[in-house]
Amino acid sequence: MTRHLLTLLDLTAEEITALLRRAHELKALQRQGRCPRPLAGRTLAMLFDKPSTRTRVSFEAGMAQLGGASIYLERGQTQLSRAEPLADTARVLSRYVDAVVVRTFAQEMLEELAAHATIPVINGLTDSHHPCQVLSDLMTVEERFGGLTGLKVAWVGDGNNVANSWITAALRLDFELHLACPPGYEPDPGLMALAREGRRRIFLMPDPVAAVAGAQVVNTDVWASMGQEGEAEQRRAVFRPYQVNTELLGHAAAEAIVLHCLPAHRGEEITSEVLDGPQSAAWDQAENRLHAQKALLEWLLG
Ligand code: CP
Ligand code: NVA
Repeated sequence: MTRHLLTLLDLTAEEITALLRRAHELKALQRQGRCPRPLAGRTLAMLFDKPSTRTRVSFEAGMAQLGGASIYLERGQTQLSRAEPLADTARVLSRYVDAVVVRTFAQEMLEELAAHATIPVINGLTDSHHPCQVLSDLMTVEERFGGLTGLKVAWVGDGNNVANSWITAALRLDFELHLACPPGYEPDPGLMALAREGRRRIFLMPDPVAAVAGAQVVNTDVWASMGQEGEAEQRRAVFRPYQVNTELLGHAAAEAIVLHCLPAHRGEEITSEVLDGPQSAAWDQAENRLHAQKALLEWLLG
């Protein structure tokens, strides 16, 4: 059966743990100048509807390091822009390449592609999820704390795609997730219902101080995601009390790290003092996209 990564719920807890273990190994091997090339002769297509720096470059570099090749496809330059059906595109790509990373708006587009593809489909960000980002975030937390078990993770700001993927991670793994989101900007209610049914320690609240209190990980993201540019001004007013700044971080554990998937807007969701300060793990987090995705590609294509 073809495996896909449309959300982190496509993976079991054991599979996530194994992927993270391999990601740490691949990072250590690269530091030693050793790089296994198990994907020689394999090809990854990357079909993108939205801009990207990290996701595109880390997948392309990762594929090259593993011995394979990648092809970047901007939707506007494909026949999809001239109404070729998604199902036909999925069938044809499946005849040429070994996997496809997709960055788009609706999660349903990804699901439809996966339904007609005979190769793995990887979510490179949709409006609803960003599973590859959170794999690298989890790796970064493990690196700093030696594990995830029992940690308190705070999410401050928009209940967006990255927040949803953090919820899926907390549905699978053993850490507490406290999300502070303004009313009207909460994460996917279906995921919150799963959290309640599964009696998971996933809590949603409006108060950022309560979410951050004693947390080892403080996580935030932009207030207006790609596709929401028209709401940016209105959102700036609503989200003002949700800025991750030195004062808010003062409520976290003394050893707390700060995560931001990037790109960041300094002075909005996070201050420069925090993002560029000693508690920021954002640059390791960005690097770890490479290692986590190499582990994912090796597993899906190997
Ligand atoms: N964090 C992330 O996905 O960055 P890009 O939009 O640059 O890919
Ligand atoms: N929530 C952001 C993440 C960017 C990597 C967005 O969707 O634009």
